[in-house]
Amino acid sequence: MPEETFTPLSDTQTPPTYRFFNGKEWVVSKSGKTTELKSPIDGEIVGKLQLVTHDEIDAVLEKAKQVQPLWEATPLHQRVKVMHLTADWIRHMEDYCTSLLMREIGKTTGDAKSEIVRTADLIDYIADEVISLRGETLDSDNFPGFEKGRTAIVEWVAHGVVVCIAPFNYPVNLSASKIVPALLMGNTVVFKPPTQGGISALHLAQLFIKAGLPEGVLSVVTGSGEEIGDYLVTHKHVNMVAFTGSSDVGVHIATKTGMIPLLFECGGNNPTLVLPDADMEPTAREIIKGGFSYSGQRCTAIKYVLGTQSTLDTLLPIILANMKDTVVMGDPRSPETKLVGPVISEAAAAKVQAAVDEAVKGGAEAVAGGHTKGNYVEPTLLKNVKPQMNVVATEVFGPVISFIPVASIDEAISIINTSTYGLQASVFTKDEGTGLVIAKKINVGTVQINGSPQRGPDHFPFMGVKHSGLGVQGVRYSLEAMSRLKSTVINKPS
Ligand code: G3H
Repeated sequence: MPEETFTPLSDTQTPPTYRFFNGKEWVVSKSGKTTELKSPIDGEIVGKLQLVTHDEIDAVLEKAKQVQPLWEATPLHQRVKVMHLTADWIRHMEDYCTSLLMREIGKTTGDAKSEIVRTADLIDYIADEVISLRGETLDSDNFPGFEKGRTAIVEWVAHGVVVCIAPFNYPVNLSASKIVPALLMGNTVVFKPPTQGGISALHLAQLFIKAGLPEGVLSVVTGSGEEIGDYLVTHKHVNMVAFTGSSDVGVHIATKTGMIPLLFECGGNNPTLVLPDADMEPTAREIIKGGFSYSGQRCTAIKYVLGTQSTLDTLLPIILANMKDTVVMGDPRSPETKLVGPVISEAAAAKVQAAVDEAVKGGAEAVAGGHTKGNYVEPTLLKNVKPQMNVVATEVFGPVISFIPVASIDEAISIINTSTYGLQASVFTKDEGTGLVIAKKINVGTVQINGSPQRGPDHFPFMGVKHSGLGVQGVRYSLEAMSRLKSTVINKPS
């Protein structure tokens, strides 16, 4: 069944060369160029992706623009049905998609499975939610000086053609979280998957097609961001861009697109403030999970911990003790491995290691890890870190947690608010009232009290400030972001 379902995606060679989806069929690009994808686990080539040409992007966008009004006019219950069928297909293919994801991006079996299951659940939830999203009518006489007789009908309508760009760390989930609300609100979608993770993303796209999306409503173009990114996002037919990726790329896209709606989830360096009264055992476990899940390659991963010297002196040994049972670096396919596998590439590992080396050279001390072999970065705890060091000031996409001693809560808040990032922050304290007071002073999208930063549950709003994002995601928020309000006013003839 998987073989039959996914037959059109690639040729039958080993490793397979994948095709792109032009809205109608899976085809080979006229460029004649492909990119090889290597498994981060062992360097084995998993497959090759097409590098599409600008002409092919033109054709795909032309079609997306042409069919969009028809798709928006399709009864909502029919669009909803396609999404539920897609979720069913994903569940049907759970094992196949899990092992593909694991091999392609090096997630542990548990993390890969949870991404697939979460995606099916998310699609169903969004498809259920859209039915209750409705506009409103407003009467003129509510406003001083106006009589009855004018009525505004306010509706949610589609933007038009939406470009969805997904990252390597959740190539299935963070693709679906964009594509599904965009399609449900009546937009057509041109999807650019990540390069690494692209094969899993193509499989997801195939399941949307199997579920019955009409021709041209969804297409998938592959190629590196450097080669096709700018052309795609600045194309005259594109009405909105939804993107997850690094802050640098987010800023770049925002400066290129001009005045179209943007929905961005970018980088984060997610601080954690631990107060002296915090319950240290659960705090330690949350910090470990928050910092090391999927090898720290989550935009919501904890990157640094702030506390007084004595709080950190109490906390660090508890974290180290807990790590013995809960963090084991290794091949993500092995049941022995816990939380930490390889990072996505040797280049990514080298970048993480460079930041660690810089911190150690500047006076920080590695109390755990601190080294890299190939693309396996040891789970690392750094103490005596300074806020201006790159392990804190930049987004280090690997399993590294820095500890910064502070003299006061105000100093901690000032460090957090000085950052160029503003995705999430955590505050650990037994006194939730104090947590709330501190939360009000922290300038990020979400403050977690007594929990590690995280996006889910997926109907919660998810957003970043500063270089961490634009707009709000999360089931209903995504549906609203993927559409706009349109008002039609009926006037009483005078
Ligand atoms: O990497 C960015 C993701 O949105 C993080 O999601 O908190 O569920 O891991 P997560």
